[in-house]
Amino acid sequence: MLLSGITSTPPLSIRRLNKATTVTSQQLTISDEVLESRGFVLRRTTEKLNLDHLNSIFVAVGFPKREPERIRLALEHTESLLWVHDKRSSRPVAFARATGDGVFNAIIWDVVVDPSFQGIGLGKAVVERLVAELLGKGIVNIALYSEPKVLGFYRPLGFVADPDGIKGMVYSRKHKKN
Ligand SMILES: CC(C)(COP(=O)(O)OP(=O)(O)OC[C@H]1O[C@@H](n2cnc3c(N)ncnc32)[C@H](O)[C@@H]1OP(=O)(O)O)[C@@H](O)C(=O)NCCC(=O)NCCS
Repeated sequence: MLLSGITSTPPLSIRRLNKATTVTSQQLTISDEVLESRGFVLRRTTEKLNLDHLNSIFVAVGFPKREPERIRLALEHTESLLWVHDKRSSRPVAFARATGDGVFNAIIWDVVVDPSFQGIGLGKAVVERLVAELLGKGIVNIALYSEPKVLGFYRPLGFVADPDGIKGMVYSRKHKKN
């Protein structure tokens, strides 16, 4: 699990980030306008989001296929989400969401970019904006799970593994001792 801050004493890199609580468009590496000029529209609600198309991105990147109804329910309980609509294909091509308590804590989930659209800045664009939105709400304890091969994607975005030695733990039925 990567953390971008902890409740009491966020790591230095994040304390710096927190000063900018509302990340302005100048601080984004790619502006909404530039994205739009390339045919991509950022959306922040599930309106117009085709869940079958989203599911096909999950499957294409190796996530398990989920029932659309369960995705719909999960998104209903999601605090912030962001996706990129590709005007040419009329499909979503990038997505990220965060759940949390709306005050102190948030966890980012389901950061995905359609494989045909990877490597052109869309992943960074959605994560930067999601983090900016959470910080703008005063939420500084932002965490996510990262596969080892993606650590290098998250680090420049402000995430650190084991800040101050703090370890993330997940419940594991496999390892639970009765
Ligand atoms: C990881 C993922 C979201 C990155 O999205 P992307 O749109 O391809 O990434 P971007 O083009 O925005 O890359 C932004 C920067 O991160 C770097 N980067 C991208 N993927 C990387 C990786 N796996 N490791 C290290 N750096 C990476 C890019 O080189 C780029 O660097 P730059 O800013 O210096 O040019 C995308 O590859 C993906 O959907 N992967 C499959 C699903 C997944 O693993 N999601 C994360 C769950 S933990």
